[in-house]
Amino acid sequence: MGNLQGRDLLSLADLQTQEIYDLLALAKQLKSGEIKPDFQRKTLGLLFRKASTRTRVSFSVAMHQLGGHVIDLDPSVTQVSRGEPIEDTARVLDRYVDILAIRTSAQLELETFAKYCKIPIINALSDLEHPCQVLADLLTVQENFSKLQGLTMTYVGDGNNMAHSLLLGCALVGMNIRVATPKGFAPDPAIVAQARSLARGSEVIVTHDPKLAVQAAHVLYTDVWASMGQESEAVDRIPIFQPYQLNTDLMALADRSAIVLHCLPAHRGEEITDDVMEGKQSRIWDEAENRLHAQKALLVSLL
Ligand code: CP
Ligand code: NVA
Repeated sequence: MGNLQGRDLLSLADLQTQEIYDLLALAKQLKSGEIKPDFQRKTLGLLFRKASTRTRVSFSVAMHQLGGHVIDLDPSVTQVSRGEPIEDTARVLDRYVDILAIRTSAQLELETFAKYCKIPIINALSDLEHPCQVLADLLTVQENFSKLQGLTMTYVGDGNNMAHSLLLGCALVGMNIRVATPKGFAPDPAIVAQARSLARGSEVIVTHDPKLAVQAAHVLYTDVWASMGQESEAVDRIPIFQPYQLNTDLMALADRSAIVLHCLPAHRGEEITDDVMEGKQSRIWDEAENRLHAQKALLVSLL
């Protein structure tokens, strides 16, 4: 796994196919306890400009279990919120911590950190992508089906950061990916084009027809209809997104073996119904747990 050492993870497309498979294999070994790396004296900095439960806690616990240390670089109590330039902050933090996980809106901010830091920078969610989540998602799919290649993932909902990272991640591992969104909420065409160029024979479909998209799919995925920062649009979006709700009617069109994933937090009764979330096909809680194992593999590989 030495080949990822010192690298950044700003986008899933920063990883090659084999590197993703290696990370998943390492995550599996870490999850089973087969290997227990020791990162005593290594420090992970968490710089989060947005709320987080899973990402914050799973990174912290992962680092603790690896024997390392975590510093919460809360922007409100550092000079970050008082306007110190990112270029300056980055060069200083680079000399203190060994790795940084950053959650922010702008992908450009992550790129600036990466430019001014020699240490690895991890995208812990931006408006463009959520690569750490998709590593955990792929681990969960692999655990269920004992393979990834040839399976079909269908994402219904907003063409947001999750849709983008799923497009790239599925294309890279050889899964078919279908994304169904309302008109005006399609994923970024540049990301769709990138996914198509990364795919080696698997399908990359973007549509406005949720029923067509879920036909015979193996993994059904959804996310909130209004992401962090879009709260003011949330009420207006509900009627537009209603046909994209992940409910039992939509699920009936999928493969009988289909599983349901959601990155969480969920708005039950909006993008997903209670019965689907709590139903037999839901793997949502395993998926949340896998954030810990996938990110531990990422930390071990990058450090
Ligand atoms: N899925 C996810 O990233 O959750 P948090 O926002 O709680 O970190
Ligand atoms: N699309 C959501 C994902 C949260 C994990 C958001 O950006 O708020």
